[in-house]
Amino acid sequence: MPLLPPGFVLGAATAAAQIEGATAEDGRGPSIWETYARRHPPADGSDGSVAADHYHRVDEDVALLARLGVSSYRFSISWSRVLPTGRGPVNAAGLDFYDRLVDRLLESGLAPMATLYHHDLPQALEDDGGWINPATAVAFGDYAGIVGERLADRVSSWVPISEPNVAAFLGYGNGTQAPGHRLYFDALHVVHQLLLGHGRAVGALREAGAREVGCANNHAPIWPFSEDPADVGAGKLFDSLWNGMFLEPMLLGRYPVDVAPLMDDLVAPGDLALIRQPLDFYGVNYYSPIRIAAAPDDAPVPFEVFEMLGYPRTDRGWTVVPDALREWLITFRARFRAALPPIVVTEAGASYAVGPDERGVVDDQARIDYLDAHLRAVVEACERGVDVRGFYVWSLLDGFEWTEGLAQRYGLVHVDHETLVRTPKRSFAWYAEVIAAQTRSVG
Ligand code: FCB
Repeated sequence: MPLLPPGFVLGAATAAAQIEGATAEDGRGPSIWETYARRHPPADGSDGSVAADHYHRVDEDVALLARLGVSSYRFSISWSRVLPTGRGPVNAAGLDFYDRLVDRLLESGLAPMATLYHHDLPQALEDDGGWINPATAVAFGDYAGIVGERLADRVSSWVPISEPNVAAFLGYGNGTQAPGHRLYFDALHVVHQLLLGHGRAVGALREAGAREVGCANNHAPIWPFSEDPADVGAGKLFDSLWNGMFLEPMLLGRYPVDVAPLMDDLVAPGDLALIRQPLDFYGVNYYSPIRIAAAPDDAPVPFEVFEMLGYPRTDRGWTVVPDALREWLITFRARFRAALPPIVVTEAGASYAVGPDERGVVDDQARIDYLDAHLRAVVEACERGVDVRGFYVWSLLDGFEWTEGLAQRYGLVHVDHETLVRTPKRSFAWYAEVIAAQTRSVG
């Protein structure tokens, strides 16, 4: 593995709804993911109520992080554990859980990176309209303030909302994730609300004394299906919706020119200034490029996602294209230059369903190859002048992978979903060695 720049942070990431379980314990309120999983059960029937049982195994999991040697851990806070109905009285046991987690991380020498919202809206807010209701973005700002007041003295860095594009377009656009609304283009209203929520939360965190505040936006290079102008046009539009609609408001305080007219009626004076908050880092979650073709005239949206042929795939069928990460980072910097704070890869990883063999070894060479290639892509981007400061592997643990249930395994650590026993995979040992080599090289 070529060397990363000195001070480069190698970390691991998780999200509350995917690992904690204990969804009805110690006063936690329900979130939209339990409801969604009940209505649209994943093939294995799981619903996140146990997941990796992290809520009961925090000590063991922090010990695993320490053994891995990562210098930072990105986790998310369950809004409905802290505020069971999304607003109103704080559930002391919920906030205490994260307080203890942060202390344990610090005792083990790990810098906590806390995400406030990773897809798990309190069900009570959804019952009031969810992110369609502008009151949700206000409640999110209040929640950010409450958590900030308690933890900002110890949390190193903050992500208000993980992947607002996924939350808006999958949750409200095509309905393939919770809460499952199919609003198509009307989901643009939700995009704006999520961005307002981001702006409010950044402000509230700063007021509470937060040190570093950034974001974690899912970005995908968009490749047109063919050179046919219809496919190229569909690809450009999709790029503005998937990528531009989030990075331009956050970094430049405007919507991309081609979609701005669609937003005119939704944007009130002052909104874009609220959204464009100075960020200490720009988090990029990267998995793979997306191939887009023009859709038939009678389709509800003018683009269609097409399979990408000719590339290796993970067990989930996602294509493995590390070069696309390098190119995306380089182009991103070239486009935004001074407006771009340092970049952190806040998620990258792959699903391979390998389990322990008869000796108890989990030989996930494919994950090692995936991570190695993507880290090399980051090194190459750094060599080309892109300021990338960190890389968080998705994920520490095999967990509840949303609509896929427990079937997709992203962890460096295997979780037996019957016994909940943790077994570090070969990728865990490999990553530990990469981290140790990096630490040795910088003394
Ligand atoms: C990302 C999500 C994360 C996980 C990975 C595989 O988009 O942020 O929770 O599901 O995909």
